[in-house]
Amino acid sequence: MSEQRKTTISVIKADIGSIAGHHKVHPDTMLAASRVLAEAKRKGIIKSFYVTHVGDDLQLIMTHFKGVNSPEIHELAWNAFKEATKVAKELGLYAAGQDLLSDAFSGNIRGLGPGVAEMEFVERPAEPIIVFMADKTEPGAFNLPLYKIFADPFNTAGLVIDPRMHDGFAFEVLDVYEGRRVILKAPEELYDLLALIGTPGRYVIKRVFRKKDNEIAAVVSSERLNLIAGKYIGKDDPVMIVRAQSGFPAMGEILEPFSFPHLVAGWMRGSHHGPLMPVGLKDAKCTRFDGPPRVVALGFQVHNGELVGPTDLFDDVAFDETRRLAQQIADYLRRHGPFMPHRLGPEEMEYTTLPQVLERLKDRFEAAEEELGYKPIIRKSEELSGKQ
Ligand code: 13P
Ligand code: 13P
Ligand code: MG
Ligand code: MG
Repeated sequence: MSEQRKTTISVIKADIGSIAGHHKVHPDTMLAASRVLAEAKRKGIIKSFYVTHVGDDLQLIMTHFKGVNSPEIHELAWNAFKEATKVAKELGLYAAGQDLLSDAFSGNIRGLGPGVAEMEFVERPAEPIIVFMADKTEPGAFNLPLYKIFADPFNTAGLVIDPRMHDGFAFEVLDVYEGRRVILKAPEELYDLLALIGTPGRYVIKRVFRKKDNEIAAVVSSERLNLIAGKYIGKDDPVMIVRAQSGFPAMGEILEPFSFPHLVAGWMRGSHHGPLMPVGLKDAKCTRFDGPPRVVALGFQVHNGELVGPTDLFDDVAFDETRRLAQQIADYLRRHGPFMPHRLGPEEMEYTTLPQVLERLKDRFEAAEEELGYKPIIRKSEELSGKQ
């Protein structure tokens, strides 16, 4: 293998159906997907793979030498999901085929439903990576941890004391509503960066680069299914790949932000906020109020294009207190029932009866300007319908 040969990591995920609600992937669907990937490995299309799940999302982690956005690799993932969907339909699983928005593959899996995070690089002598996979949330859920990992010296000591990281990192931020992107540099543009990524439903960190040499450091899946399909069909449960060590943040600096179970959107019916709970694979199932939102972190070494591992990083007592705090936050939020800010705002809700309620009540609403004492600017009811 030539020294400069680039290895590609592709993490492609889809919800193709689950057992007993949006809870957990069925092992037979994982087997079906694994068979497709094993055959592709035998044929030399991919170098190695690992199939897993978090909650109701089926995850394909693959290495190969075909670069990002390879039609061959995307088609392979599509076929794996199709085979898994067949099994899901045979078993009568819930929401079988949920994330596959199209019947036919058209050269690139992006825009068809599955979430995609891919990066390519020339391997370092030792190449540790962490693959994060979350259920019951959205791509912007990684904004806060990514900020802490790559821009906050109170989280990442290396930003201060490692000369290879001291110049900082650049963040590629997507506006998922307008389909635009901007690159912002840390530390010099921190406040502009925060002004955007503090609205994680709209501004999503897509990639992070090391400024000194533009090396890729992290990539996130940015698909927002409801924006693709124009209607509710799941909450875009995201995946992320982060490179660790030797000029990138240490493994423990990358995991550290997840010790704070920050609030994310996407719990129950994609319409509630909840704490993001870091768990090992054995707890990667969504039960309580279909959650709380969970995230798994798998560590691998990438060596000569092969995945070595994984190690299940959140399966550790060191995150017990985080999980306990997440439970307490979950209790606290749940007591709000259908009230905001537990329930998302009307413009973000994936599920809403508000238009129907407003329609039914429209003749019963009567003028109340006298009661208000002022004439408000008239707002159309659609503005509150959640479908702007
Ligand atoms: P159903 O409407 O399919 O029962 O799903 C509700 C739900 O859990 C989706 O978020
Ligand atoms: P998924 O997006 O994981 O399918 O979950 C749907 C949901 O909102 C369940 O409450
Ligand atoms: Mg589901
Ligand atoms: Mg899911």
